[in-house]
Amino acid sequence: MKRIILLFAVAVLYGCAGNTPVYLDTRKPVERRVEDALSRMTLEEKVAVLHAQSRFSSAGVPRLGIPELWFTDGPHGVRAEVLWDSWKRAGWTNDSCTAYPALSALAATWNPDLALLYGECLGEEARYRNKHVLLGPGCNICRTPLCGRNFEYMGEDPVLSSSMVVPYIKGVQSKGVAACVKHFALNNQETNRHTTNVIVSDRALNEIYLPAFKAAVQDAGVWAVMGSYNLYLNQHCCHNSRMTEILKDEWGFDGVLVSDWGGTHNTLQAIENGLDMEFGTKTDGLASQTDNEYQNYHLAAPYLDMLRQGKTSELILNEKVRRILRLNMRTAMSHQKSFGKFVCPEHSEAARRIGAESIVLLKNEDGILPLENAGHILVVGENAVRSMTDNGGSSALKAKYEISPLDGLKSALPGAEIEYVQAWSSKGELDLAPALEAAKRADIVVFVAGLNKEKYQDAESYDRKSFDLPYSQNSLISSLAKINSKIIVVNISGNPVAMPWENEVKAIVQSWYLGSEAGNSLADVLTGKVNPSGKLPFTIPVCLEDGPLSSAEQYPGIPRENPVGPDTIWDEYYKEDIYVGYRWYEKTGTKPRFAFGYGLSYTDFNISDARLKGRTLTCRLTNTGDREGSEVIQLYMTLPGNDRPLKELKDFRKVTLAPGDSALLNFEIPDEYLMQYGETGWTILQGDYFVHIGNSSDNISYSFTFKN
Ligand code: BGC
Repeated sequence: MKRIILLFAVAVLYGCAGNTPVYLDTRKPVERRVEDALSRMTLEEKVAVLHAQSRFSSAGVPRLGIPELWFTDGPHGVRAEVLWDSWKRAGWTNDSCTAYPALSALAATWNPDLALLYGECLGEEARYRNKHVLLGPGCNICRTPLCGRNFEYMGEDPVLSSSMVVPYIKGVQSKGVAACVKHFALNNQETNRHTTNVIVSDRALNEIYLPAFKAAVQDAGVWAVMGSYNLYLNQHCCHNSRMTEILKDEWGFDGVLVSDWGGTHNTLQAIENGLDMEFGTKTDGLASQTDNEYQNYHLAAPYLDMLRQGKTSELILNEKVRRILRLNMRTAMSHQKSFGKFVCPEHSEAARRIGAESIVLLKNEDGILPLENAGHILVVGENAVRSMTDNGGSSALKAKYEISPLDGLKSALPGAEIEYVQAWSSKGELDLAPALEAAKRADIVVFVAGLNKEKYQDAESYDRKSFDLPYSQNSLISSLAKINSKIIVVNISGNPVAMPWENEVKAIVQSWYLGSEAGNSLADVLTGKVNPSGKLPFTIPVCLEDGPLSSAEQYPGIPRENPVGPDTIWDEYYKEDIYVGYRWYEKTGTKPRFAFGYGLSYTDFNISDARLKGRTLTCRLTNTGDREGSEVIQLYMTLPGNDRPLKELKDFRKVTLAPGDSALLNFEIPDEYLMQYGETGWTILQGDYFVHIGNSSDNISYSFTFKN
């Protein structure tokens, strides 16, 4: 009897398991589920999952219960809901998010732990809003301070970008949301972004422009990559044979290559060159009333026709669908995904902390900062009061709240008399007299300067036209400095700006687009609640002419007719090669205004007892000042060869120390740090290697040499 019951129980269990198709059984390995789902799909169903069905979603397989995929920008918060077929906001009332500091700010923390926290919080917000793919992070290199989207990227150095991009992605994906690293690759400007054909050496490509993407794929295991708008080797990067070869064949990327919105131009190339999903191609979508215009996407009806006519193999299609199913199993069809959290105190706290740690103190004469006992403070400038989250292009956010610098200061200094005069405006010039008058009476002037994410002032689609601050801010700062010498300039931007008034002001603070908690983060630093520890993720040159881009060939490119399409193509020669950012300024011996990696603290640090033994560098870092603080110790190297940068960042460590405390730091120098890209690919040359340790690219405490 017992045996019969046992057999019955086994049969029931087996029967139940047998009734659940493998692809729906979340306990089964992903690859088995993918193959099972694929084997059940018709040709039409396969093609249907390859392209958009709305602005930000793609179809599932309704017959099989495979869900749709929902995408969202990215990269600083979860974008507001838009209408099905348009960019217009849908008018929901439950989609106001936490806005996090822009990625240029995150990079300035030089703190990978904060990048992880950032990713985790953002992943939670995306989950709560039922998004499966977050369109970020961006990790294109800051090649020119004019690029309108540098605020969405992580600075000018490949090692810094790689170090920050990896934990961000791991954080997002730990919540069951795919990160979609963008824009792959060479998307270093907004001018002519759809028609620029980049001509770059393999050396610069591999040493400067690709490492952060490679780290995203190989170290973070990113689940999606977005192709860029521009061309490389005369092919658009969303369906570029060489880029896909690098991404999928050489790096082993097993996720989905997504087009940028409107970045797909050619059906055959899209099919054959590895594009997996197509979004945003010019169409009026369902609004056409007649037919579903999404069917006109390159990877929709035209692809289906070619398949039916036998002009392309179903094997290529299956490979794309596999990747999309894998993405689905990793996100929408995963039982491990979190339910998320949205606009909660933990997220606000994280945004505030990241923001405060990103702020870079560039100058602090006479210890004017922190503002500990300030009596009458005059705050000047539109940037002290305006929103910085709801513009700038696709990264614009509908933030639940945004604390302005003025409000942040007021709540941090309840005892101070804080007066505000706008004095400059993005809408036209204002009368300066009230600000000049008020400056006479004030103990201290805090001038909140900068760009503002409007057209040409750090915004998608529009490179900046000038390196100068707009709206006559430079002359206003100089005028105010003549009246009140105790003037602090807080610059808010995602890019280096000209600072001709450097010697006229007492303090300079580089701040960023800091999101919901902007004012609190800034006030934390200005009042000394947080000791500044940000370091510049890019060089601030004296003027643009000092930089590496000196001809139209280099920027914005040289026009020529497009042999295969209506648009003019702009050939752009990256003639500066690997000499981007500080690599260029050091090569040419040009002193920048503020160097890459630079940033002050309210305390002092000392590096001592450094030694190199074999391939291990040790040194002691001591906080010699009188308050707790964090310092970023940076390790640079000089590699042998005729044509190498004087310094290349290889590693860094952020350390927090109480006054008087010290820490012993160890840096290993693996072979990887010795590699350079030569004619035959990655090599390690024999010769003398130099290792430098310091607290910015232009402040080296010790240098060592070893032979290899
Ligand atoms: C941007 C992408 C963005 C996409 C969707 C494009 O214009 O380049 O970064 O994710 O739009 O909004």
